[in-house]
Amino acid sequence: MKVVKVGLLGLGTVGGGTVNVLAKNGADISRRCGCEIIVSSASARDITRPRICETDGIQLTTTPEDIINDPDIQIIVELMGGEEPAKSLILKALSNGKHVVTANKALIANHGNELFAVAEKHNVTLAYEAAIAGGIPIVKAMREGLSANSIEWLAGIINGTGNFILTEMRDKGSAFADVLKEAQELGYAEADPEYDVEGIDAAHKLCILASLAFGMPLDFKSVYTEGISTITPLDVTYAEELGYRIKHLGVARKTDKGVEMRVHPTLIPEKRLIANVDGVMNAVVVKGNAVGSTLYYGPGAGAEATASAVIADIVDICRQLDAPSDSAVPALGFATDQLKALPIVPIEEIITAYYLRLSVEDKPGVMAAITTILGNNGISIEAVQQKEPEQHGASAQVILLTNSVVEKSMLIALAQIETLDSVNQPAIRIRVESLQ
Ligand code: NDP
Ligand code: HSE
Repeated sequence: MKVVKVGLLGLGTVGGGTVNVLAKNGADISRRCGCEIIVSSASARDITRPRICETDGIQLTTTPEDIINDPDIQIIVELMGGEEPAKSLILKALSNGKHVVTANKALIANHGNELFAVAEKHNVTLAYEAAIAGGIPIVKAMREGLSANSIEWLAGIINGTGNFILTEMRDKGSAFADVLKEAQELGYAEADPEYDVEGIDAAHKLCILASLAFGMPLDFKSVYTEGISTITPLDVTYAEELGYRIKHLGVARKTDKGVEMRVHPTLIPEKRLIANVDGVMNAVVVKGNAVGSTLYYGPGAGAEATASAVIADIVDICRQLDAPSDSAVPALGFATDQLKALPIVPIEEIITAYYLRLSVEDKPGVMAAITTILGNNGISIEAVQQKEPEQHGASAQVILLTNSVVEKSMLIALAQIETLDSVNQPAIRIRVESLQ
């Protein structure tokens, strides 16, 4: 059987997981791709550190350049993370005629257009299945399985750490910082966990999904991004009382005005399957105009789950090694010369329903004043609840669900509401999606 040598740049959570899965399932993987895959070298910053995998037979180095310049290595797997030196190393590897697999969504979202062009110029593949939603084969599903469809919208829980934190806070009442620490210990979090908590990691993934869906070049800077750090247990409880779950959602939608790309906390009706995706699990709903709604579910992070996606890319490359380069599936699923930039809808123009929580003085007339302002701005109310103050003199909580409204009207209404003497704090505002 033909031997294909692979070099790993990075031997941490995903790198170690990749070695372990190749060791565990090597025989079946070889039967699938017709090659024996051997990890011949791996780089790390500190090669004396203990690893989660066996390293016997793997040449360890602190100099990744040794790997990308090794003529015996055909596939480079970049699992270091971060923009540099990963970007320069990948560019050099592609220029050296090597195929590259990466799990680095920050790099693909920010520099994918350039990197894919270099890969195409050198007739090699740059594969990135593991960059989105961990072990879920969502890139393959969108590029190949859904290629008959015009994609209308997609929505996903695409950060495992964030979903793990929200689930543990809701189910166990755990403190945010404690759950984040646990996610880091489990290998789920990014090197800088702000990327998980503030929605940046989800925004990287959403940007890639939007390009796969709509055939447009990657445009990370246009993704509107909010994280989960502002979500309070109070809102989680009130949302549940209204029949909703709060999830951190990435939404990409094609409308007459252009493309929406946004990640933010979202209320989802609890009866939707995606509202019940908990812990480190991810899920992506993709609505195609032929197939209808489809749902992809699986672990969003973790060593072996992510390795599953990394190795699937290695298998694809092995199968293509002797094939003409133009037979490969295009990086973003559309022929490169058919990618078209599309207008992006600014967040103020987006239309959604809202959950609002207002801290108000417990006195007559407050509710009437609030509903009058909402009505004057064309916002109608679907549901309203008032929670009495927990102690004398504290604020009462008014919870409102509105119907769909353009965001700028909501911002105007809330600015007016917050000038009322009886409203004590800035409003809590969370978008609501029905996902139908
Ligand atoms: P880790 O931090 O566990 O591993 C990173 C590896 O790269 C380590 O071996 C580290 O060396 C090495 N490394 C880091 N920086 C440098 C550098 N500047 N020069 C040389 N070597 C370096 O990260 P993960 O395995 O968790 O993540 C790797 C990539 O996979 C990232 O892009 C991440 O976003 C992505 N990803 C991660 C998932 C997960 O569940 N963890 C899931 C999906 C994608 P040393 O070991 O000596 O520190
Ligand atoms: N930190 C990322 C997450 C890893 O938690 O989703 C997987 O991309």
